[in-house]
Amino acid sequence: MTSVNIEQLQAELDHKNPRVILKKALELFDNIAISFSGAEDVVLIDMAVAIRKDIQVFSLDTGRLHPETYRFIEKVRKHYHIDIELLTPDREVLDSFVKSKGLFSFYQDGHQQCCGIRKVEPLKRKLAHVDAWITGQRKDQSLDTRQDIPEVQIDTAFSSAGHQLVKFNPLLNWSSAQVWDYIEAYQVPYNELHQKGYISIGCEPCTRAVLPNQHERAGRWWWEEATKKECGLHAGNLKSK
Ligand code: ADX
Ligand code: SF4
Repeated sequence: MTSVNIEQLQAELDHKNPRVILKKALELFDNIAISFSGAEDVVLIDMAVAIRKDIQVFSLDTGRLHPETYRFIEKVRKHYHIDIELLTPDREVLDSFVKSKGLFSFYQDGHQQCCGIRKVEPLKRKLAHVDAWITGQRKDQSLDTRQDIPEVQIDTAFSSAGHQLVKFNPLLNWSSAQVWDYIEAYQVPYNELHQKGYISIGCEPCTRAVLPNQHERAGRWWWEEATKKECGLHAGNLKSK
């Protein structure tokens, strides 16, 4: 694996534009993957394919995504002629969870357990086999949990003793409006749910449309407090608070 000095790299990438960050990430790491959620972070794919054709892209298929999101993932796959690896939960663990707690336990006891099984464990499995990953996290997505994210960091949540994992967040300083300007300017495909009032899109039972001027993540896990609205993919955000 490439050995990099993260502090030095962070100093170099500080406040650089997303394309510069992506380019550096793809130059430094061969075995690097984009984590694509089926929402506006498709701009990462749009920029990345112009830099490297054979980019690795994966999506966490929780089994609970909207039909629109599945259609969108397929649209992106065809549009950019790329493979999108769909990561699914461990079948035995999922079967026993659903058998004991049913399909909607998160409304009673919070989303952590279901997200743990449907998102975090499959992500952990994937990240054990790459040297770095790229996410579409932005600071403006959350005043509570995303204000301190850097351009590049060691992913303390998913690194292990023998495996150091690097995480890049190229869109961190972009606002939602900048992402949408890019989508419009470059005719990037988008999830049709965005035409129905959805901004931040996750699983179907845990996402709803937002009203004008409501914060975009108000529609995610709306029955929980804002400070808990991280599902474990970006657990480092919570630890650093
Ligand atoms: S979440 O943690 O609350 O679900 P959010 O929807 O804001 O995350 O997305 C932030 C970034 O996390 C996305 O840009 C993407 O990189 C990654 N991500 C979120 N959900 C998924 C998913 N289902 N599959 C792959 N990556 C995801
Ligand atoms: Fe389960 Fe909801 Fe988390 Fe999806 S977002 S994995 S349905 S708790």
